[in-house]
Amino acid sequence: MIQISEVKLSEIAKITGHDKSVISRYFKGYPDEVVTRVNKRIVGICPEAANEYFNAAGLTYLDQGAVILLGNICGGVGKTTGTNNITAGLRRMINRNDPIICIDGDAQSSCTRHIFGDYAPDNALLLIDFLEDRASIDDILTPLENNIWFLKSNLNQASIERVLSRPQDFKNGMLRFYNAIFDKFGTKAKLIQDHNPSINAVLMSSLAAIHQLQPDMLRALLIPIRSDEYAINGARTLLRDLKIMKDTFSLYGEIDIHCYFSSMDGRISTMASVLEQANKDKNIVKHLSAVGVRFSDEVHKSIDKKENVYSKNPTNKAAQDYNELIHYTFRSKSC
Ligand SMILES: Nc1ncnc2c1ncn2[C@@H]1O[C@H](COP(=O)(O)OP(=O)(O)O)[C@@H](O)[C@H]1O
Ligand SMILES: [Mg+2]
Repeated sequence: MIQISEVKLSEIAKITGHDKSVISRYFKGYPDEVVTRVNKRIVGICPEAANEYFNAAGLTYLDQGAVILLGNICGGVGKTTGTNNITAGLRRMINRNDPIICIDGDAQSSCTRHIFGDYAPDNALLLIDFLEDRASIDDILTPLENNIWFLKSNLNQASIERVLSRPQDFKNGMLRFYNAIFDKFGTKAKLIQDHNPSINAVLMSSLAAIHQLQPDMLRALLIPIRSDEYAINGARTLLRDLKIMKDTFSLYGEIDIHCYFSSMDGRISTMASVLEQANKDKNIVKHLSAVGVRFSDEVHKSIDKKENVYSKNPTNKAAQDYNELIHYTFRSKSC
């Protein structure tokens, strides 16, 4: 289950820069199904109302279709945490007519376990079954509440390396998958995809695929990094291999790439040394995100309880920062 809490006016105010009283006035006559009130004061709004307000404020970028891949060769950097919270964060702010699809591309299945408490059953049809033509999109997706769909994983997924080993399959495999998703759900669907920490076929084939999708869609690689050299090296290696892969398969055009600090601890000495490290690589500097996620106890707590950072009080640091990351990623689409 992916719990989604209502959006608070303070969150909308932070994103739009509007005064809370202005937002409150906008929703004044709205019915109770859309706006929750306590003593006539608005305390929360539903995703449709939030989406409508962003559009009215000219922030229409959330309406575009999207494939967002989270990747880093280094483990423990926040890929799964990011996938989980970006899915929940998006769902709170986007009209529920538009589907959100969360894809666990990691055979270790930490995202699946986080949401469902267990791996996909051994006999479950997985992404690998779609790629080998044994299953359709409908067979492999699990519907959750609020028009969220989930593609589960388990260790059987590890054989995908073999399935995507021939160059043609590598180039077209995940592309066929995305096209089938957009055929089913429409071009405003948003996909968020987790990966294991390696140069693996799912991640690289997905990167090849999003280069081939329509450029009017958000096609982004988010690379979470931690404040240490190992995580920075993981990002650097991924960016280097992405370039090699693009050259090998003659993939032109650019996708959006954002390296973001996923757990900033604010200790200046650590940040200074990691920025010095990042600064050694012009590729990382080029793609360094203007927003990051601060270290927050709320992240650990939400993982322990199998929730997300928005589940309880969405005004904690991590929730605010994930909001910013989501809007930054959509807003700064390059093409
Ligand atoms: N903003 C944050 N604040 C505190 N801890 C964080 C934050 N982001 C990630 N973490 C911690 O980092 C750990 C690894 O995150 P995870 O998403 O599992 O990494 P990955 O999927 O890259 O292996 C998690 O246990 C989580 O508690
Ligand atoms: Mg993970």
